[in-house]
Amino acid sequence: MEQRVDALKTHKTGDERQTEGEVFDKKTLLTIYDLMKGGFIDTIQFPISTGKEGNVFFATDEDGDPLAIKIFRTSTATFKSFGKYIEGDPRFKGIGGNRWKLIYAWTNKEFKNLQRYAEAGLPVPEPITFQQNCLLMEYIGNENGPAPQLKDVKLEEPTEMYDEVLSFIIDGWKDAHLVHGDLSEYNVLVLDGQPIMIDCGQAMTNDFFNAKDLLIRDIANINRFFKNRGADIIDSAKVLDEVLNGSDDDEEEEE
Ligand SMILES: Nc1ncnc2c1ncn2[C@@H]1O[C@H](COP(=O)(O)OP(=O)(O)O)[C@@H](O)[C@H]1O
Ligand SMILES: [Mg+2]
Repeated sequence: MEQRVDALKTHKTGDERQTEGEVFDKKTLLTIYDLMKGGFIDTIQFPISTGKEGNVFFATDEDGDPLAIKIFRTSTATFKSFGKYIEGDPRFKGIGGNRWKLIYAWTNKEFKNLQRYAEAGLPVPEPITFQQNCLLMEYIGNENGPAPQLKDVKLEEPTEMYDEVLSFIIDGWKDAHLVHGDLSEYNVLVLDGQPIMIDCGQAMTNDFFNAKDLLIRDIANINRFFKNRGADIIDSAKVLDEVLNGSDDDEEEEE
């Protein structure tokens, strides 16, 4: 196992070179080692995505089944935005200003958000576990590779896809009591013609003072994208009203 962890350290091809000493710093390697020891992962194979805040890798578990592991970057560079979402979230009250603690809290937050969505039956990657800056979740893809982002998919039935994503916004608010907050064609993957919403770290509970603004932004993004793709769009104000005052609402959501 040490050898496998070592291999990660010394592997220097393409995208991985860039992450050398940054994502796979010593603490991250130890965390990966722990996840291996704990039986959660067996191998980490290749980066699916290298992003500003972290990288996502294709990994396998002990049965050889695929997993996705999101490893948050531990450098300060792009980390500023995390703080305000963590501090504003009542679930993370009292978390200090320490950079590591914030990154761990952020990882924990994305995990909890995924859990909440999944428990409400909404289409997100099933969360598996998290430790420090590493989040393990269901791999969205198949033997041909990871599922494409919505922006790269040719839509045969744009209105049907639109309705699915809209349902996620509405049910997310009503059933999971969350607003995604960064919903766009970049954070929706399409597998077998169905949308799966990802990147849920910034999602907030719907009682957050700013939740309604995030909701409005999500609706606007989704309407903009699907309008360009020729879907039958429901007016943003109407969607907002449906979310906030919709008929099958099970409790008071907003003033
Ligand atoms: N569970 C997953 N299965 C397959 N691919 C994933 C998964 N999660 C993320 N990805 C891929 O990694 C990319 C980045 O993930 P995301 O969570 O959006 O992080 P960020 O945008 O902060 O870099 C996604 O656009 C997607 O292509
Ligand atoms: Mg993203």
